[in-house]
Amino acid sequence: MPTITYVQNDGTKQELEVPAGKRIMQAAVSAGIDGIVAECGGQAMCATCHVYVDAAWLDKLPEMNDDEDEMLEDTISMRTAESRLSCQIPVTEDLDGIVVRLPETQV
Ligand code: FES
Repeated sequence: MPTITYVQNDGTKQELEVPAGKRIMQAAVSAGIDGIVAECGGQAMCATCHVYVDAAWLDKLPEMNDDEDEMLEDTISMRTAESRLSCQIPVTEDLDGIVVRLPETQV
């Protein structure tokens, strides 16, 4: 089962084993990881599941669609080249070991 590491803004790390098919956001919410709010439940309508994906993993992610791109313009914490909505990233075996950093705040 792929392992995902969530890194809080203060550097605290939490690792989760997540079944393929689950979204990175869903796994965090299910495990009660602070820093992912996910107000819209994964519809790409709130941007409160914003994460910074470690650059080494960006090429393995599904391409960003227009909705996600638009929502990332409205995040509270600064958008960077590593910004993605974690609700738009399904976990696959290829993502085993992926590291996502959580922004300072989502709301
Ligand atoms: S949960 Fe709302 S945009 Fe991801």
